[in-house]
Amino acid sequence: MSTSGMWGGRFKGSIQGMVLEYTESIEADRHFARQDIRCSKAHAAMLGRQQIITDQEAQSIISGLDAVEREIEDGSFSWSRDLEDVHMNIEHRLTEIVGPVGKKLHTGRSRNDQVATAFRLFVSERMQEWRRNLLRLIRVLGDKAEGHREVILPGYTHLQPAQPVSLAQHLLAYAQMFRRDVERIADCQDRVRVSPLGAAALAGTTYDLDPEYTAREIGFDRVFANSMDAVSDRDFVLEPLFAAGMIMTHLSRLCEELIIWANPNFGFVRLPDGFATGSSIMPQKKNPDVAELMRGKSGRVIGDLISLLTTMKALPLAYNRDLQEDKPGFLDADYTVSLSVAVMAEMIEATGFDEQRMYAAVRAGFLNATELADYLVGKGLPFRQAHHVTGRIVARAEEQNIGLEDMPLEQMQEHSPLIDDEVYAVLDYETAVARRESRGGTGPRAVSTQLQELRAWLDGQGDNGGGGSV
Ligand code: ARG
Repeated sequence: MSTSGMWGGRFKGSIQGMVLEYTESIEADRHFARQDIRCSKAHAAMLGRQQIITDQEAQSIISGLDAVEREIEDGSFSWSRDLEDVHMNIEHRLTEIVGPVGKKLHTGRSRNDQVATAFRLFVSERMQEWRRNLLRLIRVLGDKAEGHREVILPGYTHLQPAQPVSLAQHLLAYAQMFRRDVERIADCQDRVRVSPLGAAALAGTTYDLDPEYTAREIGFDRVFANSMDAVSDRDFVLEPLFAAGMIMTHLSRLCEELIIWANPNFGFVRLPDGFATGSSIMPQKKNPDVAELMRGKSGRVIGDLISLLTTMKALPLAYNRDLQEDKPGFLDADYTVSLSVAVMAEMIEATGFDEQRMYAAVRAGFLNATELADYLVGKGLPFRQAHHVTGRIVARAEEQNIGLEDMPLEQMQEHSPLIDDEVYAVLDYETAVARRESRGGTGPRAVSTQLQELRAWLDGQGDNGGGGSV
């Protein structure tokens, strides 16, 4: 059957191949055939319950849909571009299998509410996969942090060495970002898992439908409130796309760290062989390709969000065919984000850290300058003055190419008589880290608390990440 056949008598000629190619969405929406069938079964069951079709008719439609699903799963289903999209392909095959009763499935329904429902279900399921992968990544980051609580590296601001921090503290910062991503997903699931089925084309319907029943059957938590809104908004795609863009942004920042840390001038990490490549002409090179690609792919996912926002921004109510463009971007973002998170977990797990190089960078960067300033404040010097005196001592050490801790006491005293022998204990790097036990700080007890809280949160998320509210 051609598409014009589905629309009835108004369209005489067949649409030219070129236009068909331009308008089809089967390549994208066949990805959610299973979800479309699930929604159709719920709709058929509801039509039967409401006596809009007979129980027997509902039963034969439902078992016909099961048969279609089996064909799709075993690969014997033949998709036809002529039938434009997943909905018409499935309905067409259903009717071939069960006969004319198949044509009753679409009673009280339009493709407009149909596509919104099936796509919402698909988006929701895909976000659960992101969530599972994120939970694994957070676990890996937590374990790495646990094993590197004593390792010290420079903490940076403006990418300039600032103060020493523990490697655990640095890794746990990323764990917190990904934790918020998991929470963001849960929050937007609440708005995604709403059923538009029953809104029909745009205005509702004259049939006595039971949208609450269909929603429950599909597994959704709520039912739409306004039929025009239900069929035409796509914020249920945009919010997940934002969540995806945010996840990729967090990943990309971590990639950037790994790329910098893998540079021999830093030498903080040894990237596992499987996540780096050599150069064909420069034998000394080990390129952080995987991290670079992930950083690059983040741009595409952010683009998917901007692209759909732009598509949406001037659309009048209600359904417009522009909305079909919501799918390719989401599929792209979904594929990229799930795989990226999974790859990052493996990469972090396999990455080795060079504690010596990290410590050498700490020593080279005057990372105990703040300690000296605070010490002078402790001796009664106003902070601004203490900052100034410390700056001069740093300049002097720099001239001599030594660390503050290597400078003889007499030299320091030339800058301030307040300095005594106890200063060397204060200049110790481990001590500098250990003294920062404020809430969320880099001190060992503060880091232990962070780890405990993270683990407690992870435990509350269920073992495989499939737990939680949805
Ligand atoms: N393939 C369409 C989409 O993805 C399905 C809805 C078509 N509705 C319509 N009135 N032409 O949006």
